[in-house]
Amino acid sequence: MKENALLELKDVAKSFTSADGVPRLVLEGVDFSLAEGEIVSLLGKSGSGKSTLLRIIAGLIAPDAGTASYRGRAIHGPAPGIAMVFQSFALFPWLTVRQNVELGLEAQGMPEAARQVRADAMLDLMRLSGFGGALPRELSGGMRQRVGIARALVTNPDVLLMDEAFSALDVMTGETLRDEILDLWVSKQIPTKGILIVSHNIEEAVMMADRIVILASDPGRIRSEISIGLPRPRIAESHEVRVLVDEVYGLMTMRAVPAGTVEAAPVRQIDYRLPHAGVSRIEGVLDLLADAPFNGRADLPRLSEETGLPDAELFPACEALGLLGLAHLEQGDIGLTPLGQRYAQADHALRQEIFGQQLLTHVPIASSIRARLENEASGTLPQQPFLALMEENLGLPEARRALEIAIEWGRYGEAYEYDFHTGRLKLPDQEEE
Ligand SMILES: Nc1ncnc2c1ncn2[C@@H]1O[C@H](COP(=O)(O)OP(=O)(O)O)[C@@H](O)[C@H]1O
Ligand SMILES: [Mg+2]
Repeated sequence: MKENALLELKDVAKSFTSADGVPRLVLEGVDFSLAEGEIVSLLGKSGSGKSTLLRIIAGLIAPDAGTASYRGRAIHGPAPGIAMVFQSFALFPWLTVRQNVELGLEAQGMPEAARQVRADAMLDLMRLSGFGGALPRELSGGMRQRVGIARALVTNPDVLLMDEAFSALDVMTGETLRDEILDLWVSKQIPTKGILIVSHNIEEAVMMADRIVILASDPGRIRSEISIGLPRPRIAESHEVRVLVDEVYGLMTMRAVPAGTVEAAPVRQIDYRLPHAGVSRIEGVLDLLADAPFNGRADLPRLSEETGLPDAELFPACEALGLLGLAHLEQGDIGLTPLGQRYAQADHALRQEIFGQQLLTHVPIASSIRARLENEASGTLPQQPFLALMEENLGLPEARRALEIAIEWGRYGEAYEYDFHTGRLKLPDQEEE
């Protein structure tokens, strides 16, 4: 164990069994540590397993493999030194603000009078003086989250875990709260020794953390780490912060290296995953990118700002453009390729033609659908075998999603057709039976 480690995770894995009974690996081989004095941000796309990892550390669920320890002791159930703040606030609606805050102290067996004093001091620190007797529903979202934070901090935790604690709040409120917590931390008004923040907001991570850890999806593994050496308080608009935001954007949009490509893999699996983006969103992003002020090249954070598209929608569209050879993604920038430029100028028919051609050359599931259909005398096949093929490496829900996308893309590019009534795929010129 490291000298000053608060938390240490070694080779942690976790699977969940989905509704159809198929286990899905959510986390695999996760090694992580949080040292004394550190704020670490854990970033990753939605579904990459961030909350699962935090719940393992909080002792709410156990890993299937590997170990999680706090100050050198294995975590079995909630540890007294670790407190968590939830995105949903998770307050008890029938308890007053003060009673909600006192909960953790009650669990420690502190007598009532002492509890009240402590809770009130914490409410003061979180700027909630005078609201102790209120019910959560009487408060705004920002104030409810202040209660959530007060409840976590009242036990003087060593480690504070925050799971998207600001994402249910409007931007201003979230930023204010974030800055207040940083103030408490920097001025040592709270005895907390380490903070782990789960987020999908890159700027939030760069503004808060000493170190950013990026979780890749399917299964969640730690993909990269970046140290943030900037002094605090940090200025969101400063050049240093913008450069780091760009760098992290770049790392997050990088396609995951499929497991096994580093060592010589005996059987190289085809990656059937497809970015979750429909044709109209993909073309929408391409058109925006082609036009002024971008003129074919943009910095992803700016593209996200200008388009108002949340990352969860922008990233997959950019990934799709990359996959189809219409754009290059690197270092947080996206630039149209010459073919992408042509695409932007093309009329509808030419767009469909380019799309279809790129689809068949770059997307394995599309080319295998097309090839198998061409081998059939009838020119049609049920979708089931394709779903089964994809399910092997994606799991059923993701395979369904990917097949739906492959079908939408394929119909647009006139690579194949799909009959919604029969669930059969067919060659485009095939007559309806
Ligand atoms: N209790 C559970 N049962 C089944 N599946 C789960 C459970 N918790 C999480 N998952 C699945 O695990 C994956 C990762 O979830 P989560 O850790 O919440 O991701 P994130 O917080 O990064 O968005 C998701 O596909 C989610 O559906
Ligand atoms: Mg989550």
